[in-house]
Amino acid sequence: MRHCLIGAFATSAAVVFAAGTVTAQDTVNVGFILPMTGPVASVGKQVSAGAQLYVQQHGNSVAGKNIELLIRDDSGVPDVAKRIAQEFLVNDKVAILGGGLTPSALAMAPLATEAKVPEVVVISGTSIVTERSPYIVRVSFTLGQSSGILGDWAAKNGSKRTVVIQSDWAPGAEAAAVFSDHFKKGGGEILDVVKVPLANPDFAPFLQRARDLNPDTLFVFVPASQAGTFAKQFVERGLDKSGIKLIGPGDITDDNDLPYMGDQMIGTITALNYSASHNSAMNKAYVAAFKKANDGLRPNFISLGGYDGMHLIYEALKKTNGSTNGANLIEAMKGLAWESPRGPMSIDPETRDVVQNIYLRKVEKIEGELYNNEFATFEAVKDPLKEAKRVAN
Ligand code: PHB
Repeated sequence: MRHCLIGAFATSAAVVFAAGTVTAQDTVNVGFILPMTGPVASVGKQVSAGAQLYVQQHGNSVAGKNIELLIRDDSGVPDVAKRIAQEFLVNDKVAILGGGLTPSALAMAPLATEAKVPEVVVISGTSIVTERSPYIVRVSFTLGQSSGILGDWAAKNGSKRTVVIQSDWAPGAEAAAVFSDHFKKGGGEILDVVKVPLANPDFAPFLQRARDLNPDTLFVFVPASQAGTFAKQFVERGLDKSGIKLIGPGDITDDNDLPYMGDQMIGTITALNYSASHNSAMNKAYVAAFKKANDGLRPNFISLGGYDGMHLIYEALKKTNGSTNGANLIEAMKGLAWESPRGPMSIDPETRDVVQNIYLRKVEKIEGELYNNEFATFEAVKDPLKEAKRVAN
């Protein structure tokens, strides 16, 4: 009896204590670091719109906690991302970090490790990012996932001599390397790899160099936000009329820019994890809700990082019953699988990297608008660079 009374007292004391600190204990701050200004501002805007749509649709209460989504701008500069991550951890006591372009995701990694706070990567497509901290989980994509599939496809579908044009930074290097490896294994020849500076790109001289080599195919990686500029210069140099096939990861026909690119892009073949025209009831509802919330803006593969990133966070919190212990959250995220507007996806429990369908798509005009129309599906694709390392070990 005595024990029971003490037990009851202890419980009610704990409840009073919890009620006294309701804000600190019941709010989970999630801090996203995104390029909201600068040369790739459209990337930050798409992620932010995706994340906010998820919260709007699912409410901001999960497992008894209020979710506070904080979004800050690093302009895509890694040192700024690092500073904001520090402020998020120290001042805002965020339980989860989110972001970022590859350089920013890498800059945040040591802080996530030190603070034992999960870093949900919603943009970066570079393989090594997830290896930089045991607290990193990725929901975006890797460039290898799409580029390997495209390399195999090109070799089997008439391409023999390809020039690669890559944006000169880590995701570009990865797209070029994985594509070239697969294309050469399929019997193709890489005539040259041409590197275009990431900042303020002028593609004209690089397109001219590529054309002079007389390839039958041009494989191009430019990041989301540069697709429109690339397409304009491609047409200005007359490459659309040259008979050279244009292919690449779907970043070059990004749904954010595609509606404004012009009919010259019709026929372009790309590989990616998402198309706004993906044929599922869930995607149709997602696209309609996204457009409604964002003045008619079409969602792209980047905004889905924000949307699915929030889904991962919500589901992990449900599994931990609201505990924000970083190690527990990471354990809860490993192996999570769900249906996304992109199709089925999961988190590889071994690598914490995303496993998802990759689609081959062709630009077509559907009801008067340009879309990436999916014509082949590769199911449950893992990051090929990690798979290669696993097999080698
Ligand atoms: C990246 O940060 O790795 C990244 C960003 C935009 C892209 C692709 C990759 O379109």
